[in-house]
Amino acid sequence: MHHLSSIDDLNNEAIFQILQDAASFKRRLPPKLLQDKLLITLFFEPSTRTRSSFEVAAKRLGASVVHLDPAKSSTKKGETLQDTFANLCAMGPDGVIVRHSEDNTAKIFASMNLAPVINAGTGKSAHPSQALLDFFTIYEYFKGEVEGKKIAIVGDIINSRVANSNIKLLQRMGLEVILVAPKEFMPKTPLPSYENLDDVIEKVDIIMSLRAQLERHKKPIFQDYNEYAAHYCITKEKLKNSHAIIMHPGPVMRNIDISDEVLELPQTLVLEQVKNGVFIRMAILKYLLLDCNGA
Ligand code: CP
Repeated sequence: MHHLSSIDDLNNEAIFQILQDAASFKRRLPPKLLQDKLLITLFFEPSTRTRSSFEVAAKRLGASVVHLDPAKSSTKKGETLQDTFANLCAMGPDGVIVRHSEDNTAKIFASMNLAPVINAGTGKSAHPSQALLDFFTIYEYFKGEVEGKKIAIVGDIINSRVANSNIKLLQRMGLEVILVAPKEFMPKTPLPSYENLDDVIEKVDIIMSLRAQLERHKKPIFQDYNEYAAHYCITKEKLKNSHAIIMHPGPVMRNIDISDEVLELPQTLVLEQVKNGVFIRMAILKYLLLDCNGA
């Protein structure tokens, strides 16, 4: 049984198959390829984009979706996570899409091999569908010419599952990844890393801004995020002559991560990322439910 618990579950052939399908779905919506399929979404953390995007993707392909709200589930009565998952799988879904605060939840569910598991973001470790939609957005913008492109990932990198999955995927795809963050947000890394955004901003092709993951900070890292913003918010002033595309996985903290003005620029692709997310997730569902795990 195939799963998508981390970007490492996909070889390059699978990644390009998913990109190709997503591009084709974006040009023209396909027939209802997943007409008889049933998916369960199980989100233990809040989500605006990922959950809706997976549900829209499933419905565009004709699949049915059931959502279990963990706040109203029997996990509140002491049922273990594994038992919750096993009980849902006993109902015969064709896939379970899971978000959880612990790094290994998707991997643990996948190891039970009861249904294909799709990781919709776990802990600080992995958000593979976000990395795929980000790469798709970059690939589309640069018309496939991505080898050697420089990307600066800016912000709370140490706490970001988006950064983790993107670093793995984008390096594998031949991009040069540079990290920019205050030392409190910088992981131990062999990658080129900078504290000062001005040192790199005009040298990169892509800027990926990240939100400060306040919910994962054990105690407040900065007393005043305006101070952080003075150094790391992507503003027109800081961009100077840069023609880099601006990305952000969302949710954006306006005027802390990216200024209002920059959010309106044509090279800011934040909503294009969201749009592409639906096509990428359609392609992921096709890949896992039809191509890998049988029609
Ligand atoms: N990018 C992302 O994971 O957004 P949500 O938390 O809204 O799903």
